[in-house]
Amino acid sequence: MAPSRTKRPPRAKPAAQRGTRLPARAQAPWSGRFAEPVDDLVKRFTASVQFDARLARFDIDASLAHARMLAACGVIPRGDLEDIERGMAAIGKEIDAGEFQWSIDAEDVHTNIERRLIEHVGDAGKRLHTARSRNDQVATDVRLWLRAEIDAIDEGLGRMQEALLAQAERHAALVMPGFTHLQVAQPVTFGHHLMAYFEMLERDRARFAECRRRVNQLPLGAAALAGTTFPIDRERVARELGFEGLCANSLDAVSDRDFAIEFCAHAALAMTHLSRLAEEIVLWTSPRFGFVRLPDRFCTGSSIMPQKKNPDVPELVRGKSARAIGSLVSLLALMKAQPLAYNKDNQEDKEPLFDAADTLRDSLAVFAAMVAGIEPVPEAMRAAALEGFATATDLADYLVRKGVPFRDAHGAVARAVREAENLGCDLSGLPLAVLKRFSAAIGEDVFDCLSLEGSVAARDHPGGTAPRQVGAAVARARARRATR
Ligand code: ARG
Repeated sequence: MAPSRTKRPPRAKPAAQRGTRLPARAQAPWSGRFAEPVDDLVKRFTASVQFDARLARFDIDASLAHARMLAACGVIPRGDLEDIERGMAAIGKEIDAGEFQWSIDAEDVHTNIERRLIEHVGDAGKRLHTARSRNDQVATDVRLWLRAEIDAIDEGLGRMQEALLAQAERHAALVMPGFTHLQVAQPVTFGHHLMAYFEMLERDRARFAECRRRVNQLPLGAAALAGTTFPIDRERVARELGFEGLCANSLDAVSDRDFAIEFCAHAALAMTHLSRLAEEIVLWTSPRFGFVRLPDRFCTGSSIMPQKKNPDVPELVRGKSARAIGSLVSLLALMKAQPLAYNKDNQEDKEPLFDAADTLRDSLAVFAAMVAGIEPVPEAMRAAALEGFATATDLADYLVRKGVPFRDAHGAVARAVREAENLGCDLSGLPLAVLKRFSAAIGEDVFDCLSLEGSVAARDHPGGTAPRQVGAAVARARARRATR
């Protein structure tokens, strides 16, 4: 149905265009209590339909489940249920066709749909809101919407992982420098490096799955805050809507948004993971590194400098992580001073929540495609690994195996590194006679451990960077995915 992913805010139509429906739309359903109409500015200020119309599909689903329960419990007549079902089907079609006339006079998605229902089916539509409030209604809609988003995000994370796996498999043996403090530290394989991100995303998926269980609890039945006087069947509604359980306390059900906060925390963390990879790709594509090439379709040019090819996509993902972090902070601040139960403050939960989900979904989609298109430049990676004395630890480990205590070995290698630096060569470029000056334990076989390939191959245990282990990690990951 249309509005779930559209950003186009439904605008209030000028009265003239609303034609014959105008009289029915002029007053809020609660206007009976008031001596004068609400100020136009206040109407616009308090309305949420501009952004909550995207909940429409879930609002209709939840209303139908509510109506079916009311009929089953004898709260409304069967005939009314049929009318409501017919009216909602028509409304669904109007929304899909983009013909539904959203109006800020009706404030939010709930009232817009209810009004239209009444226009379609009259009194049956007026009975729908029995035993319900917009407070439990909105909490239900947001949970249904978020559940669907979590499922889509899980898919997006899965696709991004697939792209990482394919690249890691292809480049399980490709040597690059590993960094600490952004200084060359030890050689690693490109496949191992990419699999680090696979693991981060694997934990993100577990976090979202865990969060989904807490999102998937039914608020309906809480009504405004205290429950309802009607003989309702909440389990039935939960079953029909696919909720795993009932919110156990009516006050909590309508007021807390911890499920949304939790989601934003996980989204902020997932975006932080993407942002770290983004930062690496920005560095790697800089000619100073030159480790990878990005396909042109993921880059943009400069309006003034004809030679430029800028990594705008990773830069934007790095930038957009700020929005997700901002959403989390917004929701925490929104919640922290609210007394029980529902307060209008909670209407402000939607835009940050929607934005966090949109940002993560879009970033995952574009990153999955971009990662699949990354082309490493092996010569550049190799040259950088050779420049940084990346196998110094291997030489120290070699000496340890020859019986030298590690601290002494560390000192001997540090002196050898200084000598190589003076001579402008790598450790493997020092002649055996020179190397022997730093430790008598050094023999002919030292050169095996000084090579980049020897260094990575030697780290051959689960979690290590050896090509064999990268292959095993990829295989394990694929097996895990197959059984999901
Ligand atoms: N638009 C409102 C929201 O997003 C719906 C609930 C309104 N309830 C109320 N009592 N004003 O929270």
